[in-house]
Amino acid sequence: MDISKLNEIKEKAIERIKDAKNSDELVEIRNVFLSKKSELMSMMSTLGQMEAELRKEMGQKINEVKMNISNALDKKVQEIKELELQKTLEKEVIDISLPAKGKESGGKNPFFVVRDEIIDIFLGMGYEVMDGPEVELDHYNFELLNIPQDHPARDMQDSFYINENVLLRTHTSPVQARTMEKKAGKPIRIICPGKTYRRDDDDATHSHQFAQIEGLVVDKDINIGHLKATLELFAKKMFGEKREIRLRPSYFPFTEPSVEVDITCANCGGKGCNICKGTGYIEILGGGMVHPNVLKMNGYDPEVYSGFAFGIGIERVAMLRYGIDDIRKFYTDDVRFLHQFKKKI
Ligand code: PHE
Repeated sequence: MDISKLNEIKEKAIERIKDAKNSDELVEIRNVFLSKKSELMSMMSTLGQMEAELRKEMGQKINEVKMNISNALDKKVQEIKELELQKTLEKEVIDISLPAKGKESGGKNPFFVVRDEIIDIFLGMGYEVMDGPEVELDHYNFELLNIPQDHPARDMQDSFYINENVLLRTHTSPVQARTMEKKAGKPIRIICPGKTYRRDDDDATHSHQFAQIEGLVVDKDINIGHLKATLELFAKKMFGEKREIRLRPSYFPFTEPSVEVDITCANCGGKGCNICKGTGYIEILGGGMVHPNVLKMNGYDPEVYSGFAFGIGIERVAMLRYGIDDIRKFYTDDVRFLHQFKKKI
């Protein structure tokens, strides 16, 4: 054993430490050069057979080499750790200056925009919002609205029957009867938004399921002027101050007189164009004065009380308001359709 051998081991170790690329390699190098079985450590065990003088010298030298290798290893371990950390940081870098990807919010379906606006308009006039069942009794859907068994008006609302007495409501008007029952003779001022069903063939303007907002006011001294003023206010708030309304005589079994309500055409301002088919007006809803029979059947004395009612088709209003040409677009939730309304709404 000589000094040159020790130097050789040292240089070899330092060389390998310098070239090491990762912590695993360093563990291996520590094993090869510093473990009990390593060349250096086995040299340690031969010290006992040496002369005292030489033993001291060699002992010191071996320790020195051991320390050198150990220090170089520690230094390199630190370097590699930092390097590896640097690499992970680079790989997982978050560029906080990039614009956020975010989640794109969908647009509110114009159906709900219009429904909520109509509700707001009537809440502003002191109306209360009522609810009623979509699976309804014939009794409320027809009988109590002055539409007895053989009345031809039933045909106009061809219906989904569940059994002889139960059907999917064909309009929101049964809520009129339900409300009169509930209020039991007290004044009423309600609207009821909700789904309705008719056995229609689906096309651009018809759907087997659609929605209405029913309105009902019952009190003393209610006359058709109140109905007209109310609907005029509604039309102006919904379609713009310039809109005029027109009442046309019509027929519903539960109102007398009955009216169809038209608004002046937004496209031509009332002069007549292809959209309003030359009439200058577009129909938006049906209404009338509550029929005395309906008041009587539902517990209100028609000599004391009078009232008006109306039914607004929500999709129809939304179609007119936004120029939507197909009712089915409300129900399919096609994002290309909804996106168009995102800015407007
Ligand atoms: N229920 C009628 C319909 O669906 C609309 C209406 C409601 C008419 C209230 C008059 C009064 O056609």
